[in-house]
Amino acid sequence: MQAIAQSNVCPFRWDDQTQTLSIIDQLALPQREHWIPLHDVQQYANAITDMVVRGAPAIGITAAFGFYTSATKHWAIDNRDEKRARILADKAILAATRPTAVNLFWALDRMARALHTHLDDATPSALLREAFDIWHEDVDMNKKMAAHGADAIGPIQNILTHCNAGALATGGLGTALGVIREIHARQAQRALQAPHQPPAPIHVWVDETRPYLQGARLTAWELLHDDIDCTLITDNTAAHLMQQKLVDAIIVGADRIAQNFDVANKIGTYALAILANYHHIPFYVAAPDSTFDPVLKTGNDIAIEQRSQDEVKRINGQLIAPPNANARHYAFDVTPHTLITAIITPNGIIQPNKN
Ligand code: MRU
Repeated sequence: MQAIAQSNVCPFRWDDQTQTLSIIDQLALPQREHWIPLHDVQQYANAITDMVVRGAPAIGITAAFGFYTSATKHWAIDNRDEKRARILADKAILAATRPTAVNLFWALDRMARALHTHLDDATPSALLREAFDIWHEDVDMNKKMAAHGADAIGPIQNILTHCNAGALATGGLGTALGVIREIHARQAQRALQAPHQPPAPIHVWVDETRPYLQGARLTAWELLHDDIDCTLITDNTAAHLMQQKLVDAIIVGADRIAQNFDVANKIGTYALAILANYHHIPFYVAAPDSTFDPVLKTGNDIAIEQRSQDEVKRINGQLIAPPNANARHYAFDVTPHTLITAIITPNGIIQPNKN
């Protein structure tokens, strides 16, 4: 069945007249909906490093438009080797922003291949088309994942998610939240068709996701925006809910999937997968093609980003620990494929333990 879900949320706006991409400031949400236009490669790179834009597919899309912005700046250079070198130097700046999500490198490599093909064109418009293709293909892949995921999971009441794998993290419906949106839409449709025996609507447990609080700030905001029932919990509540049989399934996104289907995702995902396994609860990962690493054999090879310890010691700039306390901020962890029930992709369902 095709996806029927829709979302009003999108982190990107393109202004054709000024040829400028604006991104919603994900650090200001949910308090303020503030849009930031990006004009040069350094602004693009800072937006990714500082997590003004975040989420694996969204980072890739942003980097693609950053690459195009570099091309527009350098296109007039007569010497084609120098022109290519300048643009590829900007590509390196964009690639150095965050190490874990493979979508970033996938998008930049795709732009570099387009550059190679179109280096002698009169204008860089083919590169703008490539950046839009990367965005629009992501929208399409989100819809396909939503449909496959809703088919596989079926009607469900309580689902738990971690971090933000929603519209804000992608170009479309989201990965994990795309599936949730689709289940919600199908259950709403069934309720209309059977008003005397309506199925219970889906309810989402939202992990707050320390330390960046993507769950509390972004996922709760998105779900409420689309009228999907949700309840925010602290990360350490999940085990209790599972023990109380209040979680029917868990669904998360991914930042990189190795060849053996080990999954890197937001820190805390691995703990959830262990809990799900212990409580015999299905654990789903939803990910587009751009999240599958074509090279790395296992999750052990995935580079795990470590961010500033200050991000653990402060909330909204406010110090919550002794100033001289040591802290560690691992941004991601790796869930072994043995703990994953199924990976939902645009092309169907992968069951890592049945291959
Ligand atoms: O550090 P972030 O906010 O970029 O991490 C995001 C995640 O871990 C998401 O779960 C992942 O990118 C999947 S998004 C569709």
